[in-house]
Amino acid sequence: MTKPDLAISRIMTVVAVALVDGDGRVLLQRRPEGKAMAGLWEFPGGKLEAGESPEAALVRELREELGIDVEAACLAPATFASEPLGDRHLLLLLYACRKWRGVPQALEASALKWARPLEMHGLDMPPADRPLIGLIEALL
Ligand code: C5P
Repeated sequence: MTKPDLAISRIMTVVAVALVDGDGRVLLQRRPEGKAMAGLWEFPGGKLEAGESPEAALVRELREELGIDVEAACLAPATFASEPLGDRHLLLLLYACRKWRGVPQALEASALKWARPLEMHGLDMPPADRPLIGLIEALL
């Protein structure tokens, strides 16, 4: 039987955010060439580092990827997705955020796009992000 600690180590936790602007649009970023799933549109975010809380990881990722500052207290847990990923399993935790400092820039992505859920349905998105579209519609 698989030991529980081995099973847990195969789960990769990723945090991501639905940044919502005053018009009810959500920011997506396009994964750059050279990365897995290049060209797909995703909610900004990334992997947790060892010992990091999900909120701290998201504050760090948003600074690195978009150059914006977000208060951890403004991050509202919204929903999650669970997807097989090769020989591992991806757990994607999605937060919602309506307040930040700075103007988002594509510091790591190849492009940014403010999109409404209707438009998102027509975009190529990673398998874990796609099921979240319907769920964030309820937030807007
Ligand atoms: O961006 P990075 O490559 O560090 O992301 C780690 C993993 O999380 C990748 O497999 C990526 O596809 C996945 N991911 C995702 N949806 C996001 C952010 C990351 O599926 N919004």
